[in-house]
Order: sequence, then C-alpha cells, then structure tokens
Amino acid sequence: MTEEIVVIPGDGIGQEVVPAAREVLETVGDFDFVEARAGDHVLESEGAALPDETFDLAASADATLFGAAGESAADVIIPLRRAVDSFVNVRPAKAYPGVDALRPETDLVFLRENTEGVYGGHEQRLTEDLSTLTRVITDSASRRLARFACEYVEEGEWDGFTVAHKANVMRETDGRFKTAVEDVAGKRSVETDDALMDALAMNLCLFPEEYGVIVCPNLAGDMLSDLAAGLVGGLGLLPSANLGPDRGLFEPVHGTAPDIAGQGIANPSATILSAAMLLDSLGYGEESQAVHAAVEGVLADGPHTPDLGGDAATDEVTAAVIDRLD
Ligand code: NAI
Ligand code: MG
Repeated sequence: MTEEIVVIPGDGIGQEVVPAAREVLETVGDFDFVEARAGDHVLESEGAALPDETFDLAASADATLFGAAGESAADVIIPLRRAVDSFVNVRPAKAYPGVDALRPETDLVFLRENTEGVYGGHEQRLTEDLSTLTRVITDSASRRLARFACEYVEEGEWDGFTVAHKANVMRETDGRFKTAVEDVAGKRSVETDDALMDALAMNLCLFPEEYGVIVCPNLAGDMLSDLAAGLVGGLGLLPSANLGPDRGLFEPVHGTAPDIAGQGIANPSATILSAAMLLDSLGYGEESQAVHAAVEGVLADGPHTPDLGGDAATDEVTAAVIDRLD
C-alpha cells in the first residue's frame, strides 16, 4: 500500500523547507503526495486561512507535513491539530555535535498535552475591568497522555519521565493532572519524578543533562520546549509531531521567518527531522533512523546554513542530506 501524505508548505520559509523535506521523503519511500494550501496567502485569496478542503485532506490522510503559517498561524495550526485528533505534541530538543549550542549536553523530549489546559478553555470579557479564562484539565486527557508517555519511555529505553506541574498553586487542575499521570505510570511500573514548572525552567538552563522525557500540561510544554530550543542552537533544528490515535501532523517548531523568507537560506533540518518523525509514525523505523543519521551527519560536517554560521543555501544542505541516504 502507498501511504498518502498531505504536504502543506504554508507561508514564508514553509515554501522552502517543506519541498526540501518532501524530496528527502521521496528518496527513502514511495508515497502519494497531495499538496494542500493554508496560511496568510490563502486568507487573502479565499477568505479563510485553512480552507475546508485542506482540513478534510489532513483528517483523512495517513500523515500531514506542515511548514508554517504567518499571522494566521493560530487559525491554521489549532484546527489542523484537531483534524488529526492530536492529543500529544512530541517535541525533541537535542544538541548535535557540530552545532554551537548553549548547552551541548541537552537531550530532551517534551510530551505536551495538546488539547486542553489554558488553550482548551474559554476566554471571556466579563466587564470593562475583568477578563477571565477557564483552565480545563480532564482525567481522561491526562491519562491518555500518561499512557502515551509510558509507551514512549519503554520503547525508547528512557529511565522514566518527569511530570512538570504547578500543583502547589493550581491544586485542583494541576493536582488532577499530576495525580492522574503518576497513577498511570505507577500501575505500569514506569519511574517518574515531578518538578514545579517554574523551578524546572531554571534547572533546564543550568543542568539539562539531569532531564530526559518531560510530560507537561499544554502551556508549560509550549514554553519549556521553546526554552530548550535556546539551549540547543536555535529554531532551525527543532522538529515536532502532533500525534492522534490514527494519524499525525508533523511540523517544525519554527514559524515563517519573514526576515529570511524568499532568500533560499532557511535551515531545512527541523522540517527534515519532522519528516523523520513522520516516517516513524508510519512504521518506517529504519528509514526514519537513516534520515535522522543523515541530518546528524550534515550538522556535524556541514554544509551549514547562515543560522548555524555557514553560508550554504537550503538546496545545498538538502542535497548533502540526500547524498548520505543514497
Ligand atoms: P520564527 O520562528 O519565524 O523566527 C524566529 C527567528 O528564527 C527569525 O530570526 C528566523 O529567521 C529564525 N528562524 C526560524 N526558523 C528558521 C530556519 N528554519 N532557518 C533559519 N532561521 C530560522 O518566529 P517569529 O519571528 O516569532 O514569527 C514569524 C511568523 O511566523 C509570525 O507571523 C508567526 O505568527 C508565525 N509563526 C508560525 C508558527 C506556525 O505556523 N507553527 C509558529 C511560530 C510562529
Ligand atoms: Mg510555541
């Protein structure tokens, strides 16, 4: 069977890095690619940043590779995550040899709850003086994330995971999250420790080597994973996977990079590594590892794009990755 992969380049450098990752996928597999549109440029021409057609394609394809959207990002990415029924956002942040990282010993994976917390709640303007936001934490979503985290650490041979929370203050919501996650892990004999998310932010800067897999409520996962991007050498390197029960949406953590868009110098590594996560989700473990190793090799030996201190173009880095796969 040939899997169907929807590719949505979006805006800005999405138009440059998604074709690069597609070329890599074409090198290692035989897939049916379907191009779909989303982002600011579509909003201008069609009145909606995420056309229904693109939503429906992502909801039925075997996997979706997305670049980035500009000012319409929230109107594109949040519905797209819903299209694949994604309950977890997997965000690895690893420092690679050959890249100048603030903390070269960093090797972290954030498992971020992807449906609720403060992003799943309702904001309201109640009076001229008062606005509120409901923070939503359910036992079912917390347990679903915990079951995924247990499988993730068992398969990846990690020692266990850290639960990030602020249950000392948000006793009801984060208390529920922490209790539910620890209960699931305890029943499966997966080791956990827990960390208050504010102190964890500091400790990740000082001692990243003491952490591995970190399970987080939605907002904490968003913020801590960006912090980790700073530890490993920048956004051009960080991939992510939004996983649902049957399919996933794969995207670099970075945005459209308007400051360099159109110049052909964007670093394609984050999107190619996202494509490696896509391959893994489709069961192509060997191909996924090969792509990962090829990117790692190019990061170690060059060529490098300007964000990593080099002067290579996106095309040259992509060709170097493909060379290592042939
Ligand atoms: P950004 O990630 O686009 O750029 C931040 C900085 O990192 C810029 O200096 C950029 O040149 C650099 N950078 C990012 N990716 C790079 C790559 N692959 N290679 C080389 N350099 C890279 O974040 P920013 O500037 O905050 O947002 C720009 C636009 O992107 C905004 O309109 C924002 O809404 C959108 N955005 C979209 C996201 C999405 O679609 N998932 C995520 C984040 C931002
Ligand atoms: Mg973010």
